[in-house]
Amino acid sequence: MKLEAVPVSGEDIYWVGAIDWGIRDFHGYTTHRGTTYNAYLILGDRPTLIDTVKRPFADEMMARIRSLIDPSTIDCIVSDHSEMDHTGSLPWTIETVRPSKILASKMGAAALLCHFPEMDHSIVKTVGNGETIDLSGNESVFMETRMLHWPDSMFTFLPARGLLFSQDAFGMHLASSQRFDDELDRHRMREEAAAYYANILQPYSPLILKLLDRVSGAGLDIRTIAPDHGPVWRGDPGWIIDLYAGWAGGTGRHGVVIVYDTMWGSTGIMARAIAEGARDGGAEAVVIPMSSAHRSDVATQLLEASVIFAGSPTLNNDLFPTMADTLTYLRGLKPAGLSGMAFGSYGWSGESVARVEDYLSDMKVPLLGEGIRSKYVPDDECLALCIESGRKGSELALEAVGSD
Ligand code: FEO
Repeated sequence: MKLEAVPVSGEDIYWVGAIDWGIRDFHGYTTHRGTTYNAYLILGDRPTLIDTVKRPFADEMMARIRSLIDPSTIDCIVSDHSEMDHTGSLPWTIETVRPSKILASKMGAAALLCHFPEMDHSIVKTVGNGETIDLSGNESVFMETRMLHWPDSMFTFLPARGLLFSQDAFGMHLASSQRFDDELDRHRMREEAAAYYANILQPYSPLILKLLDRVSGAGLDIRTIAPDHGPVWRGDPGWIIDLYAGWAGGTGRHGVVIVYDTMWGSTGIMARAIAEGARDGGAEAVVIPMSSAHRSDVATQLLEASVIFAGSPTLNNDLFPTMADTLTYLRGLKPAGLSGMAFGSYGWSGESVARVEDYLSDMKVPLLGEGIRSKYVPDDECLALCIESGRKGSELALEAVGSD
């Protein structure tokens, strides 16, 4: 099968990545629409490859390169990020291409050594923050972006093109036959960009705000953003930058998320009563039963919410397993700007509500009030309390929107 490269900038910079239509789990995050691993080729007397792809897709990348040039003419590979979805095929590519050098940040070079001890490291050269170097006839500036989202991460910027190779930043997990933002449905891109931000970048929101300030302070004229996943932003790169600024800054949060699991239905009844109260209060309420949802979908919903109700029955003196999984995942993502409340039913010991509150405390989520506990089946008094709590949460969510 003949695979084509896709022009990205002028007649000499091409997308040569791979499309993974089948992936549905990306280290614990559900990727409903697959993903792409983007690599880019800069032509010239001494061609440069920007990043590579996940190992099973090495042949696809190489076929796209071969549609343009003899791969052995590639002189340099830039590794903007060492995670294996971008470096998994690097050792094989080096063997195939025999480049004269690999460029990476100092931490990137160290990470490559850890990941691939058998690789020829004598050709790995480090580039510093702000260093300028010629890549295939293009002045190129490197910008370290530590912890966005690994310590090694860096951007490569070509000022004359206004072209930013941004590795994971501004990406999304979205497999598509189209390569550019102006060819894709904006609603779909927003959904997937939000899911990606919530599940991968969210813990680093304070660093993202600083990075956006750095980029803006440096006066970079960014006309195209070429990330390592999803579409290339050539139509409206400002759109994704503005979305990041909003998510990182916590603006636009609205609505109530009610996430729960249930054993014999009682915690589910409480969840629905809370949702009724939230609806009465006027805010949008989303109910997520973990028997049929994935933890990463909860993270995505919470990105634009300001209130979380988390409910679990007590099972063996502890949380229901799906809620332990979900809350552990959320705790790691450090969602900001939330208030919360716990609820759940129990038979005799009833520890689950206190366990949920422990998680909310770890997440620095202030409580709306004391958690609601129901012995076996919720009675009218308990349900009235659920409805009232839902209404209170809803009012708080609406206040949060008003204070943006
Ligand atoms: Fe797409 Fe952090 O790897």
